Amino acid sequence: MKVTINRSILELVEGDITHQDTDAVVNAANPSLLGGGGVDGAIHRAGGPQILEECKTIGGCPTGEARMTIGGRLKARYVIHAVGPIYKDGRQHEPDLLVSAYRSSLGLASRHKIKSVAFSSISTGVYGYPMETAAEIALTTTRRYLEGHPEIQLVRFVLFGMMAYEVYERVLRSMKEAGRLNEGGSS
Ligand code: APR
Repeated sequence: MKVTINRSILELVEGDITHQDTDAVVNAANPSLLGGGGVDGAIHRAGGPQILEECKTIGGCPTGEARMTIGGRLKARYVIHAVGPIYKDGRQHEPDLLVSAYRSSLGLASRHKIKSVAFSSISTGVYGYPMETAAEIALTTTRRYLEGHPEIQLVRFVLFGMMAYEVYERVLRSMKEAGRLNEGGSS
């Protein structure tokens, strides 16, 4: 599914974040930035040891923030390591921290003249964030950011498996139908 917001494209695809050819891919990292399972494991495996070497020089990242490294052997030139919140009950500032993780990632992209970004679904795996509420946060935060930042031409959400894709598609479609996308056209 693809929508336009002003002149930017926001699209959903089902696939693997490590295969994306955007300028940057966003890793679902932890505060140590020293790797893990899920997306983190896949990106470090596919990208190679240079990514971890650079992560070690950064010295960690607080929850709700993001840091950038090279992409190593990935097609993407850069990896933006975003640290989302561990979901407990939704009343421990998890929503604000998830918004912040997306905004920090997009802000880094703008500052580094990155024009296309592929996101994984932050916090919805090991960190246990319910997929639907996380999708609402991810898509609303991205839509709001793109409304004021035409320098980012493409934001792609790369969903792992059809279930995740269908949740994001349902949320994006409901945003469209509620007129919450001042879009130029969509498919
Ligand atoms: N491509 C795209 N999405 C993926 C991939 C992949 N190769 N592998 C997993 N996913 C999906 C998961 O299905 C989930 O929907 O990415 C989402 C995020 O899941 P996690 O990778 O578990 O990330 P998160 O929930 O943010 O937990 C972060 O997990 O791997 C550790 O080091 C990481 O401690 C950190 C924690």
